[in-house]
Amino acid sequence: MSNSERIEALIAQMTVEEKVGQLGIFADALRPFAPEVNPEANARGAAEVRAGIRAGKIGALFNGVGAAEGRQAQRLAVEESRLGIPLLLGADVIHGMRTVFPIPLGEAASFEPELARRTARATAVEATAAGIHWTFAPAVDVARDQRWGRGAEGAGEDVLLGCAFARARVQGFQGQAGLTADDCLLATPKHFAAYGAVAGGLEYNTVDISEQTLRDVHLPPFKAAFDAGAITVMSAFNDINGVPASANRWLMTDLLRGAWQFPGLVVSDYTADMELIAHGYAADERDATRCAFTAGLDLSMQSGFYDRNLASLVASGEVTLAQLDASVRRVLWVKQQIGLFDNPYRSLDPAREADPSHLAAHEALARDAARRSIVLLKNQGAVLPLKKTGQKIALVGPFARDTKNIEGCWTLFGDRTRYVTLEAGVRAALGEHAQLIVEDGCGLEEPIDGGIEAAVAAAHASDVVVLAIGEPQSYSGEAQSRTQIVVPPAHQALAEALAATGKPLVVLLRNGRALALHGAVRKAAAIVVTWYLGSQTGHGVADVLFGDYNPAGCLPVSFPQDSGQQPLFYNRSRTGRPELPHMREFKSRWREVTADALYPFGHGLSYTTFEYGPAQLSTTQLGWDQTLTATTTVTNTGEVAGETVVQLYVHDRVASRVRPVRELKGFNKIALRPGESAQVSFQLDRSLLAFTGMDLVCRAEPGLFDVWITDSSANGTPVQFELCPPKG
Ligand code: NOJ
Repeated sequence: MSNSERIEALIAQMTVEEKVGQLGIFADALRPFAPEVNPEANARGAAEVRAGIRAGKIGALFNGVGAAEGRQAQRLAVEESRLGIPLLLGADVIHGMRTVFPIPLGEAASFEPELARRTARATAVEATAAGIHWTFAPAVDVARDQRWGRGAEGAGEDVLLGCAFARARVQGFQGQAGLTADDCLLATPKHFAAYGAVAGGLEYNTVDISEQTLRDVHLPPFKAAFDAGAITVMSAFNDINGVPASANRWLMTDLLRGAWQFPGLVVSDYTADMELIAHGYAADERDATRCAFTAGLDLSMQSGFYDRNLASLVASGEVTLAQLDASVRRVLWVKQQIGLFDNPYRSLDPAREADPSHLAAHEALARDAARRSIVLLKNQGAVLPLKKTGQKIALVGPFARDTKNIEGCWTLFGDRTRYVTLEAGVRAALGEHAQLIVEDGCGLEEPIDGGIEAAVAAAHASDVVVLAIGEPQSYSGEAQSRTQIVVPPAHQALAEALAATGKPLVVLLRNGRALALHGAVRKAAAIVVTWYLGSQTGHGVADVLFGDYNPAGCLPVSFPQDSGQQPLFYNRSRTGRPELPHMREFKSRWREVTADALYPFGHGLSYTTFEYGPAQLSTTQLGWDQTLTATTTVTNTGEVAGETVVQLYVHDRVASRVRPVRELKGFNKIALRPGESAQVSFQLDRSLLAFTGMDLVCRAEPGLFDVWITDSSANGTPVQFELCPPKG
């Protein structure tokens, strides 16, 4: 029997109730579970879940962990339910499982999608060993407003970078051995769609957006994830132009399944169908079920709405049997794709879960990922790298010894016993000769008695102060929108007091978004963005602090001059009144600050220097069907080996819709020894110049374009070419 015959044979035998059972996913009450990440709703105890599985009324569970308990749950489904349809076991495994890797935003700063592929692979190995088939990741939301807390889960403000990381993460989670492999973790790009565009950066808020921006900015990372092989997707909480994404037929049916031919399943975000009532889009739970289901939402998470209402909607004819079967078919198809019908106990092997043999390699990868995610914003007077001997160091700040702000948001299963604190990492780097004083200085959010005094005394007794401050990790992630994207006042006060000592100040920022830096923090000699780096935080940071690793990360989000600039992103549309040097009246700027970032997208320093030669084009007349090569020579002009992210930007001079001031169209991280040069080339064709027009068709328009090959979105001198119209 072919796979599709097998699925059809099952559907033919299923009752409506059993079909509905395949269309719900519920909190895994049978295994150790992390409940606090979602609001309590429709809670079901273990007995109820067991009974539901036996009755064929539960086809999927989420956020439980453990191979042995997962095996028992699977046995109930396979051996004790009438049709023996196996369970699909999902979980939020976002940036690591037991070994925690940097938050996705941090990892995007590496500008190395290959790194993300490798960390996602390691995550998949650990998660599938722990009895999980399916992760609700990657988050591929483009986040252009830093007030929003969930930018931490994505790849930042840029579309091209977002697509590259979406692709890499899907490939990493799912692996190359096929979806049936025991260590394949099914990926779920989320949140479909435009969740990152919530108005004002306010969590769960409305999204009022042009279809052009939706298509050009927010949808491409999803398409990239599907093209990389993702066969599930999670619908978003927000509405889009008045229609909630989780009941949006245009999005889930016309675009996703129609235009994009997506064969897989759509799972709701947690209780998103229930929330149609709070949105005022559905009158009651029956109506909400009808709206969500008929719009194309296959799998309802946790609300129980499908469970309670779908059968009666089928009975009344408001939902057709054909519609019901189509969703069931998609769910069974996904189960079949990952091999569950032939091998229901895949990824449920307690022996593999107990096997620690991969850990050393994963820790080494976590350390490398941590240091590759770090961005050196500023390094006045080459205060960094620090010396390991002959220099007394004061390591100060609430994150110096902290163990609770290491992993970043959405880490449910990290092995906390293996987390390396900043102090531990610095001590390990310094060895027995350590001349190190460690002081907290203040609490996570509040001053502590005598904290500043002790920190100042430590500074006076040292040659350099390393100040570890920033956002407590609870400040980013779901439901963590902020109005002021600054460090807490207690951290700022500590920084001011330390700056007043006159000792060189190195600020290590911990953060889940771009921050507005002020006062002593902004003026510090060195500023290092360390995000939340995961298990190997201390070692990764120490590698950079002491120059054992030369930092090469670049910002995936623009750091503003002030909070009030949000949303601020480098690829903003041109304005009719741009600010010009020496001309500020009647120009597009704020009273207080210009429209520029303090540290723009793509910015990141190294302990060496690089010189970028002029960009050279293979032609200045790009034929309609031709490809142009843009090349530059990059030279390491400093004293140490290093890496630089070579960035290609393009700007369309005149178009039928106002175009961004520039857009990233390519990037390439290269390593150079001191004095070494390399030629770096990018290919450009008209597909990279296309945008969605007023008629909603995506196409390039002939005309002049500027091209930069440079080291940040605010640097470089452009050269021009013309895209020639098609012949004839
Ligand atoms: C809500 C979050 O928005 C989503 O990202 C997550 O996957 C679900 N809860 C399940 O925990």
